[in-house]
Amino acid sequence: MRVIKPLLLALGFGLSATALAATQIQLDSSTQGAVINKNIYGQFAEHLGRGIYEGIWVGQDSKIANTKGWRNDVLAALKDLQVPLVRWPGGCFADEYHWRDGIGPHKQRPVKVNTNWGGVEEDNAVGTHEFFDLVEMLGAEAYVNGNLGTGTPQEMAEWLEYMTAEGKSTLAELRRKNGRDKPFKVHYFAVGNEAWGCGGNMSVEYYTNLYKHYTTFLKTPANNTPKWIASGSHGEDTSWADYMTANIKQKMDAVSFHYYTLPTGQWDVKGAALQFPESDWISTMHRTLAMDGFITNNKVVMDKHDPEKKVGFYVDEWGTWYDVEKGENPGFLYQQNSLRDAIVAALNFNIFHKHADRVHMTNIAQMVNVLQAMILTDKEKMLLTPTYHAFKMYVPFQDATALPLKLSNVPDYKLGELSIPAVSATAAKAKDGHVYLALVNANPNKAETAEINLAGITINSVSGQLLTADAMDAHNTFAKPEAIKPKAFSAKGKNGKLSLELPAKSILVVKVQ
Ligand code: AHR
Repeated sequence: MRVIKPLLLALGFGLSATALAATQIQLDSSTQGAVINKNIYGQFAEHLGRGIYEGIWVGQDSKIANTKGWRNDVLAALKDLQVPLVRWPGGCFADEYHWRDGIGPHKQRPVKVNTNWGGVEEDNAVGTHEFFDLVEMLGAEAYVNGNLGTGTPQEMAEWLEYMTAEGKSTLAELRRKNGRDKPFKVHYFAVGNEAWGCGGNMSVEYYTNLYKHYTTFLKTPANNTPKWIASGSHGEDTSWADYMTANIKQKMDAVSFHYYTLPTGQWDVKGAALQFPESDWISTMHRTLAMDGFITNNKVVMDKHDPEKKVGFYVDEWGTWYDVEKGENPGFLYQQNSLRDAIVAALNFNIFHKHADRVHMTNIAQMVNVLQAMILTDKEKMLLTPTYHAFKMYVPFQDATALPLKLSNVPDYKLGELSIPAVSATAAKAKDGHVYLALVNANPNKAETAEINLAGITINSVSGQLLTADAMDAHNTFAKPEAIKPKAFSAKGKNGKLSLELPAKSILVVKVQ
C-alpha cells in the first residue's frame, strides 16, 4: 500500500508511468549560480614521459610539421578544444626545475636527469620561451609553477623578474637577448607543488612559513601580477586549506588541491585502463563522485576564515590514474583512455560547475600522453581520446553562468555494495545568450529518461551532441582513431518542457532553443 498510494496519487495528477520512472530536472531557484570560470577547463603539461617531448614538442628540425618546435597536428587539436589555460612545468618536476637551465641557445642548455619520471635525460629543450610560445599560439593563459623544494626565494623572484620586467634590468635585457622584447604575461604562479609529498614532505605549518617568506620577495609590475597560488592538500584532507586560509593573509589568491581517481583506490594495483570488469566501472564512478564531498568540505573550512570567498580553491590536478600500459616505461604514466574516462570528466565538470563560487580553476592531468590525456601520440600519429570529446562538448560552459538544478527521482545504479546516482546534470547561460544543458547517464547497462522543466525558460527544441558506445572501454586507437566520437543529437520540446532518453553510459550536451 505504501508504494501504491503515491503511484495512484501521481497518476491522478496526470503523470504517466514513464514520467514516474524518469529523473525530474528543474531549476533550483533557492540558490544563485556563479560564473563558471573558463579555467575550470584548464590543462596540465608536465615534463613527464611523452607528455611534452614527442607529445607536443618535437623541435624545429623535426620531420613532423611544427611551429616553433610545437607539432602542428596537436596544436590544431588543442586550439579546437579552446584550451583556456596550461599549467607548467610540473607537478613534482617543478620542485626540481631551475629556470636558468631552460633559456638561451638549445645546445648550451644543461642535460639533467628527470629523477621523478623515469630517470630519463631532460635536455631542457622546452623552457620559459618555448612554454610561452605554446600558450600564446593556443590563446591560453599561463600558469607557471615555481620551485620551492630545491630553489631559493632569490631564484623564484628572479624568474618572475625575467618573465615580467619591462625596463632595462639585466634580467629583462637577458630575456631580450634570448628573443623576447615584451614581458611574458604570467596569469598564475604557484609556490611549490605537493609540499606534503614530492615537493618536500613538509607540514602545513612549515610550508605556510615558507610561503610567506618566498612571496615577500615575489614582485612584478602592477599590470602583470599573477594570481598567487599556495600548494594545498589532496583527497579527504582539509587541514591545509583550513590552516592556510586562516594564516596567510597576503598574496594568496587560491589554495590548490589534488585528487586522482583510481578504480581500486590502491596505488600498487590501480586497475586497468581497458578491459576492466564492471566492478571497476562503478568503483571509478563512485570514487570520482567523491570530488563533490572533498570540495564541499574544503569550502566549509575556508568559509570560516574567508566568508567573502576571496580565496579560490583550485583543483590543479585531477583525473583517472590507471596501471601503466604494458611495455611502457612505468615512470611515463602512459594510459589508454576510454568512454569511462569521458564520463569521469563530465561528472567532474558538473561538480565543478556546482562549486564555481570557489573553484575558479582546475587542471586535468594531463594534456597529452600522460594519465587522463586529451591526446595520444605515437611518433607522427595522433588520436583524440574520449576525454578530448567530453572537454569539447562542454566548451559552451566556459565563462557561462551556472543555472543551479534540482534533480529528483534519480534512479540509483548499483553493483555489489556500491550505489551511485545514475543521472547527473548541469545547466548554464552561456556567453552566446543561450542556455546549455549537459546530462550524464553513468549506468553502463540501462538507458534513463530525464524530464526537464526549466520554469521561465521555454524549451522548444534542443540540439547538440551525444557521446556513447556499446562497450564500457570503447576507445580510439592509432589504427581506428575515430572508433568513438560524438554524434549529432536533437529533440523537440512539448509545452515548453523536454523529455530526453539518455542511452546507457552516455554524455549529452545540448543548446536550448
Ligand atoms: O600528474 C602526475 C603527478 O601527480 C604530479 O607530478 C604530482 O604533482 C602528482 O603527484
